[in-house]
Amino acid sequence: MRVAVLPGDGIGPEIMAQALAVLQRLALPLELAEAPVGGAAVEQTGDPLPERTLALAREADAILFGAVGDPRYDTAPREKRPEQAILGLRKALGFFANLRPARVHDALADSSTLKREVVAGLDLLIVRELTGDIYFGEPRGVRDAGRLGREGFDTMRYSEAEVRRIARVAFEAARKRRRRVCSVDKANVLETSRLWREVVSDEAKRFPDIELSHLYVDNCAMQLVRAPKQFDVIVTGNLFGDILSDEAAMLTGSIGMLPSASLDERGKGLYEPIHGSAPDIAGRGVANPLAMILSAAMMLRHSLGQPEAAERIERAVAKTLADGYRTADLYTEGTRRVGTEEMGRAVLERL
Ligand code: IPM
Ligand code: MG
Repeated sequence: MRVAVLPGDGIGPEIMAQALAVLQRLALPLELAEAPVGGAAVEQTGDPLPERTLALAREADAILFGAVGDPRYDTAPREKRPEQAILGLRKALGFFANLRPARVHDALADSSTLKREVVAGLDLLIVRELTGDIYFGEPRGVRDAGRLGREGFDTMRYSEAEVRRIARVAFEAARKRRRRVCSVDKANVLETSRLWREVVSDEAKRFPDIELSHLYVDNCAMQLVRAPKQFDVIVTGNLFGDILSDEAAMLTGSIGMLPSASLDERGKGLYEPIHGSAPDIAGRGVANPLAMILSAAMMLRHSLGQPEAAERIERAVAKTLADGYRTADLYTEGTRRVGTEEMGRAVLERL
């Protein structure tokens, strides 16, 4: 089982080290090969996604990805921005289906900024379309708008085929859960969303056992903080999914808790925490490694056919939290505050 390891920027390398230690402890026949990506790659090669890194990702059975983003490149042209690395990988390898499960661990019900009774027991899955929408739509750019000065523009677009295949992923995922799908759009305003809603509803006819509902994205954002337990599977486009998944992450106590899987048509995947490179805390040994460790578990389950190993990791994480270990993002009075390495070690001991 060949795994491409792309730690990236900021806290990426720190949390990756903990995830790799966990994987190595499982004594599976894994072949790990590392390559630079993001700002780290710009520094070495001038390119956020060097040819060698892309080739390694292509040849691997799965990709473990840390995070990219570096304020030093905030004003760089688009092709030199670290973020281009993750966008380029998703597009080049066809990772169109992004699964972002948000689960509230019992031990963390008091870590959320929302009341315990609102979030305790929460278990929802955001299925985010990942290779279309305004993220990739053409034309885009900045042009001269005469008297108005310059004008920036992007294009939101979705084809019927793209909507259909992500809807199918959501319906199939719901079959393994509570059989409810909520499709999120902005069909009261956007043409893209009107087509989205029509196609999702049509695809639903092939899944009569699944209950489908629709919400506008503004309402969904509100419902997520009002009563998040009403949701089972949320399916939505790239941009809305980006925003809603950060919101859903905070229901679980910290954005440092959410893993994700980005899958192609055949189930090959890239696994990454949904959080970013957190440059403000990079290098201080305080980042929460759990989203990265849980991403490794998702990789074992979805791409490497090792569901038992995945469960062992998830149980070790749950036990670590139950035993009171907390990184700074999760800390509440009466718990044990630890750094990145100590958190990783605590998971290893329980594994
Ligand atoms: C995410 C991130 C990325 C995105 C960035 C880093 C390009 O926010 O994976 O959610 O917008 O998709
Ligand atoms: Mg995001």
